[in-house]
Amino acid sequence: MGDKTFKDIEHDGWLERAASYEFITPTTNQAIDPILDSFGDIRDKYLLEVAPGPGHLSGRAASLGARVEAVDFAITMVEHAQSQYPDVRFHEGDAENLDFGNNQFDGVICAFGLLHLAQPDRAIAEAFRVLKPGGRYTYAVWSAPDQGGDFFGFLMGTIQEHGDMDLNLPAAPPFFRFADPEQAASALNQAGFEEHQLATIPIVWRGQRPSDAVEVIYKATVRTRLIVDAQTDSKREAIHAALIAGMEQFRVDDHFEIAFPATMVTATKPLT
Ligand SMILES: C[S@@+](CC[C@H](N)C(=O)[O-])C[C@H]1O[C@@H](n2cnc3c(N)ncnc32)[C@H](O)[C@@H]1O
Repeated sequence: MGDKTFKDIEHDGWLERAASYEFITPTTNQAIDPILDSFGDIRDKYLLEVAPGPGHLSGRAASLGARVEAVDFAITMVEHAQSQYPDVRFHEGDAENLDFGNNQFDGVICAFGLLHLAQPDRAIAEAFRVLKPGGRYTYAVWSAPDQGGDFFGFLMGTIQEHGDMDLNLPAAPPFFRFADPEQAASALNQAGFEEHQLATIPIVWRGQRPSDAVEVIYKATVRTRLIVDAQTDSKREAIHAALIAGMEQFRVDDHFEIAFPATMVTATKPLT
């Protein structure tokens, strides 16, 4: 790992996951309609998506008549997204330092991006800067285990029980900060936003096989995978076995369902 920062590790991780991340997009795509609905009629609106990954949210917004730009720092994600959604303009760029002028967009959207940023407050300030007065910012992040997030409760609980958490990993921001109502309000107020609202999106993760609980870590996460990769072989094998066995509690007929709610927050840039 050497001297890599959290941001370097996230960047390397997402560069490698452009194709395999699709393993989890049937789950993350459940946030698309609620996020777009938070804008009402988006026809002819000028939207910026931050951290689009494979671009399904932007693609849907464009199909509904919005003019959409999107910025992701992983060039492989940008290329993957652009090949699927030619009507969207995908750019390689940094959420914390957007290459757009002030007061440009009617809306800024970000699905499951803020929790991956080294400096999320900068990204919120950048979203504020590029929005027109009266423009709206909507983000979604995973809800915490104590907010009903059974998926991360199961994954992290199993890793903590069978693994070693005393690892020498680079410091990273708290994963669930922006799902916490008070902390979200404080960060948005700090950036200048007003009138924010929180809602829960009742997402469900569906697995076909018990081993999907292991696969999802390797295919679709960076921070969680880092923790599993850093284990000894025997601890890693114990984590895999416990995840596979633990899936039985989530069996529904021939498949598995785990509550994976998201917290969606919408805020407005004041008119003056
Ligand atoms: C978990 S994926 C989310 C993808 C998609 N929005 C979704 O809903 O499934 C996180 C994305 O954030 C991008 N990302 C992380 N840090 C970033 C940064 N500083 N600037 C731009 N994109 C970033 C990653 O490259 C990755 O595509």
